[in-house]
Amino acid sequence: MFLASLIPLLTLFLSGTQARPKSYAVWAADSAIARGQGNGLDSAGVNPIVSYEHGEFQWALRLLYELTGNKTYFDYIQAGADNIVFPNGTVHGSYNLTAYALDPIRTGPTFLYLYEQTLQAKYKTAATIFRTQLNGHPRTAQGQFWHKLMYFNQGWLDGIYMGDVFYAAYTKAFDANNATAWADITAQFKLMFDNTIQNATAPNNTGLMYHGYDFSHTAVWASPDRGHSPEVWDRALGWYAMALVDVIEMAPANSGQLKPTLLSILNVLAPKIRDAADPTTGVWWLVLTQPGRALNYFESSGAIMYVYALLKAVRLGYVADPDGSIVGAASKAYGYAVANWVVPNGDGTMDWKNTVSVGSLSTDGSFEYYVNQTVDLNDLKGLAAFVLASIEFEKL
Ligand SMILES: *[C@@H]1O[C@H](CO)[C@@H](O)[C@H](O)[C@H]1NC(C)=O
Ligand SMILES: *[C@@H]1O[C@H](CO)[C@@H](O)[C@H](O)[C@H]1NC(C)=O
Ligand SMILES: *[C@@H]1O[C@H](CO)[C@@H](O)[C@H](O)[C@H]1NC(C)=O
Ligand SMILES: *[C@@H]1O[C@H](CO)[C@@H](O)[C@H](O)[C@H]1NC(C)=O
Ligand SMILES: *[C@@H]1O[C@H](CO)[C@@H](O)[C@H](O)[C@H]1NC(C)=O
Ligand SMILES: *[C@@H]1O[C@H](CO)[C@@H](O)[C@H](O)[C@H]1NC(C)=O
Ligand SMILES: *[C@@H]1O[C@H](CO)[C@@H](O)[C@H](O)[C@H]1NC(C)=O
Repeated sequence: MFLASLIPLLTLFLSGTQARPKSYAVWAADSAIARGQGNGLDSAGVNPIVSYEHGEFQWALRLLYELTGNKTYFDYIQAGADNIVFPNGTVHGSYNLTAYALDPIRTGPTFLYLYEQTLQAKYKTAATIFRTQLNGHPRTAQGQFWHKLMYFNQGWLDGIYMGDVFYAAYTKAFDANNATAWADITAQFKLMFDNTIQNATAPNNTGLMYHGYDFSHTAVWASPDRGHSPEVWDRALGWYAMALVDVIEMAPANSGQLKPTLLSILNVLAPKIRDAADPTTGVWWLVLTQPGRALNYFESSGAIMYVYALLKAVRLGYVADPDGSIVGAASKAYGYAVANWVVPNGDGTMDWKNTVSVGSLSTDGSFEYYVNQTVDLNDLKGLAAFVLASIEFEKL
């Protein structure tokens, strides 16, 4: 009697809940695709934009395509690139070479990949335009690319992911014997690290990297001693950490000091990132330098970028993890993310929660600034990184 009345109820429940893919990587990617995200057009789906988060998502889709062989992912990457590359190879939409911004360059690895796969000249032409930008890009006296022409003498961690993953991929594809280029890429990572790493006497020391620095020490946020910004912002370090593992993976044998330099930086950061996780939840605060302070919160994009970088670093043997504590920390954080930031929708897609929309050093770089920014639903900066982290987690 009891069972007989329960079965129709159960059936009703199950038919109301659409089946979802077993893989979170596939589910997250398919959900973003269903919403038309990351396709080279603005959020209204009208105007072409050259957007780093589209570049990040296309990087994730490439890995998913390689893993699953499902051509839907490849076609989506190509359609997205074709929205911003004219048939003659000119990059259009929001791209302006003489603004000397690193952010748009993050779509460059997509062009390189499509050229490799299709041999269509327009993709090589488009990538070469970005490479030309780097040749004229303004630099600090030490040689660090400015984040953007309008951010005079400033290096931001974000810019390493935006500019140097492309720089390395381009050099590998077309200029592999250019020792100057390999040394320059190495210097971009090293200068950023040396100028922003928190040392033992820094206040609220995490041993991690501040968001950025101003070599001329004139920005309102620049510390008088070293010119760095005041706080460690989770996503900036997430971009930098993802750039480390992705560039180490692509570094060819003749890339000089690139690989040893990046490996040594990664081996400093990986255990510090592990140790900075909140002991209860296993994830990280938006402002890492002020754990637990009122208005600070657990932010999803930075956390999920660390999961990707840590799991990939251990899987590829870049970081030794003899006691399993690094994979353990990444797995705990991943579990928290799935339980708290992934929300199933009635239509079979999922939502991704708790990614902060922005964190910029065009401001005063204060704690109050970072915690005051809007938190978005389905922000691609976090969602694309969730695809990447899921690909890694599902390989465990
Ligand atoms: C490929 O992915 C799409 C959605 O992204 C899905 O609809 C389709 O069934 C997949 N194809 C295969 C062969 O798995
Ligand atoms: C490439 O094509 C676009 C669109 O037709 C055009 O506006 C642009 O001037 C062309 N660029 C070059 C370098 O020919
Ligand atoms: C491109 O950027 C430069 C430098 O910021 C600016 O002077 C120029 O007006 C911009 N061009 C366009 C078409 O927006
Ligand atoms: C090699 O790389 C350097 C640094 O980016 C660049 O200035 C130079 O033009 C490159 N050489 C060639 C042959 O492309
Ligand atoms: C350590 O970092 C702090 C904060 O940036 C700075 O004041 C101090 O000079 C640094 N010490 C050394 C030895 O670099
Ligand atoms: C260090 O942390 C405390 C507590 O969160 C905070 O009041 C203080 O402003 C922080 N200092 C810096 C330089 O971040
Ligand atoms: C916080 O955001 C509000 C609304 O955008 C703004 O008016 C205020 O100045 C911001 N405060 C800080 C400290 O950034």
